[in-house]
Amino acid sequence: MTAPGRARELFSAVELAGAVRRLGAAVSAAYPDGVVLAAVLAGSVWFAADLVRCVNVPCRIDFLAISPYTPGTGRVAIVKDLDHDIDGADVVLVEDIVDTGLTVSYLLGELGRRGPRRLDVCTLLDRRTRRIVPVEPAFVGFEVPEDFVVGYGLDYAGRYRNLDHLFTADLAALGEDPLCHAAQLYGTP
Ligand code: IMP
Repeated sequence: MTAPGRARELFSAVELAGAVRRLGAAVSAAYPDGVVLAAVLAGSVWFAADLVRCVNVPCRIDFLAISPYTPGTGRVAIVKDLDHDIDGADVVLVEDIVDTGLTVSYLLGELGRRGPRRLDVCTLLDRRTRRIVPVEPAFVGFEVPEDFVVGYGLDYAGRYRNLDHLFTADLAALGEDPLCHAAQLYGTP
């Protein structure tokens, strides 16, 4: 699959792999007794699948999904919950990108009420400039600028998740992509 029109490479597959190794080592050092990785579907699946293979302490991976986020409303809800109880567990919430912080802050609230012993955030990308709610991920791959990012799990209208590297592309260019329109019309990535 090709990158979207007028796209600029942000991080190569090699750079991503290096960041994931660094994050895996940092998570392992912070949680020597083991950790539960709670990955947010679907965008963080690619990152989480690579991250878990770089964690060298006892580790479990679990998934949750939230309803599509409506910009401006700040409203999200859990539509697929974790399969396992996290009471007393050491948990790292795994995200693809923390942008306004609304999603992570909501999830930290929900998961925090379940009594984990420790709860941190590991995000591949952090766009601090757009923060609305203060969220400080413990583990960050890269800080990124305002431009929209696709690839390695991050999508536009369900597309581009399968690119093995990260691109920035302006939304107008992505919107002109006829396959994006097809995805929006038919709901298939
Ligand atoms: P937040 O709630 O504003 O922090 O947004 C987090 C979610 O928005 C991420 O998990 C992504 O699903 C989505 N998102 C934010 N920025 C981008 C981007 O540049 N590309 C793709 N998805 C994004």
